[in-house]
Amino acid sequence: MTTACIVPAAGRGDRLGPGTPKALRRLAGEPILVHAVRSAVASGVVDLVAVAAPPSEVDDIRDLLKPHAPELVVVAGGPTRKASVAAALAEMPGAVDVVLVHDAARCLTPPELFAAVTNAVRRGADAAVPVLPVADTIKQVHGDEVLATLDRSDLYAVQTPQAFRRAVLDHAHATVDEDATDDAGLAERAGAAVHVIAGDDEAFKITRPLDLLLAEIVLSRRGTGA
Ligand code: CTP
Ligand code: MG
Repeated sequence: MTTACIVPAAGRGDRLGPGTPKALRRLAGEPILVHAVRSAVASGVVDLVAVAAPPSEVDDIRDLLKPHAPELVVVAGGPTRKASVAAALAEMPGAVDVVLVHDAARCLTPPELFAAVTNAVRRGADAAVPVLPVADTIKQVHGDEVLATLDRSDLYAVQTPQAFRRAVLDHAHATVDEDATDDAGLAERAGAAVHVIAGDDEAFKITRPLDLLLAEIVLSRRGTGA
């Protein structure tokens, strides 16, 4: 039984503003990607880390991560998140039977969440994803008109890491042509049953500048043990 964690890290981070690729921006002195890989490995359930890197950064990222991952594969990412995950999936050794996919941008995710999604799949689920209830009221809008207010009670925001039986993720990527913003979305379309577990506030995604500030505060609070 071997568990791999694919880390899509090839995005530019346009919503963060101009600068180096998002995964290489620094938080508390270290690249976002290092924080992300460190917590995946600290979970104790990840045997292999497979990173999809910005194509120009593959060699540097391999050097950067070598001290942090027991087994490491670094591939060039693609033009979309889906293509980046597919590029890493193509390099999975045959022994891997459970695959996690974890956004580099969710770099403060607690190690326990990696173990929780992995255990759900090892107990028999096709796939398992962390979710949190949405806090805001959600409206469907077209142009500048509200079409509807959705019932929030059954809406959830989805995080990563997302865990899959390897065959489920391979099949989803091989058969679903449309793009998707997460891998569970592909697996659902390919017919898999996706199980949910409780997400974690600290698994938030660094997307906009305010998220970087929040991440710095979370890290400094961890540093003081508060
Ligand atoms: N990602 C990737 N390959 C891409 C696009 C995104 O590997 N072609 C990764 C990002 O590096 C990130 C994760 O997918 O870790 C989630 O994507 P997102 O938060 O949208 O990151 P970016 O695409 O980098 O940000 P933006 O959309 O603001 O440009
Ligand atoms: Mg993006």
